[in-house]
Amino acid sequence: MRVLNIGSMNLDHVYSVDHVVVPGETEASLDMNVFLGGKGMNQSVALAKAGVPTYQGGMIGPDGQPFLDACAEYGVNADYIRRITTPTGHAIIQIDRNAQNCILLYGGANQCLTEEYVDSVLADFGSDDILLLQNEVNMMPYIVEKAYERGMKIALNPSPFNEKLDAVDMGKISIFLLNEVEGAQITGLTDPDAIIAKLLELYPHARIVLTLGKDGAVYADANQKHFQPIFQVKAVDTTAAGDTFTGYFLAGLAEDLPIPDCLRMSAKASSIAVSREGAVPSIPYRAEVEAALKV
Ligand code: RIB
Repeated sequence: MRVLNIGSMNLDHVYSVDHVVVPGETEASLDMNVFLGGKGMNQSVALAKAGVPTYQGGMIGPDGQPFLDACAEYGVNADYIRRITTPTGHAIIQIDRNAQNCILLYGGANQCLTEEYVDSVLADFGSDDILLLQNEVNMMPYIVEKAYERGMKIALNPSPFNEKLDAVDMGKISIFLLNEVEGAQITGLTDPDAIIAKLLELYPHARIVLTLGKDGAVYADANQKHFQPIFQVKAVDTTAAGDTFTGYFLAGLAEDLPIPDCLRMSAKASSIAVSREGAVPSIPYRAEVEAALKV
């Protein structure tokens, strides 16, 4: 099974700060680094490092060569990435002393997808393939519509959750992978069990993966429900923790692993990612995750 990920590629400008800057305040940062990121790219790298044949779609600008290099390095197929004149998307990320982050996005090339581009990519994929989406590219309703027509299974990480998702037909989504904030935004509820119950009421055929930060993660579908606690580590940078979880969870599903095993592998991969700096560079390979699970 192949995974096509039509998603964002961002140059992450990461500033280490004592605390996240507040309105009206000027604060000197302690350090600054530029890492490759973007929810799309992070999730593709996690999938590929977990061993899944992964195809990254989306757009980059003249400054986007590092993404093509990283795809080559990590085994992500980059044939569907289109290079345009608009600059590559970027993110301004503040990481505070507790390793918590806040992220400001500039969409750039990520927001330049066209119907012609989407059609040309989807033409090569069909009912044996999974389409993975986040909400950092434009054309989301169109992509979902056309992929569904082709019989693809669609996995959605509705992040960041905003009004642009209102036009997406969520009934066409097979797998939702979201955190508790996004779950609350979609359902209007805060209790994790209530969020899951509401999502299953709205979308009875869907699989739901709800991550709860330090409180772990829950999987549920119409027939089963499983809980996974986190693996405790000293967090350095939580950027891409959710993306790593998403990539590894889908990898487990693609291999038909039992759900508790998918959850365990994803939680371990994500615990390794938070113990390192950066988004893409923090994502572990499968062998490292499996070795750590044996300890
Ligand atoms: O999920 C983390 C990612 O969100 C970062 O890499 C940043 O680019 C934003 O897309």
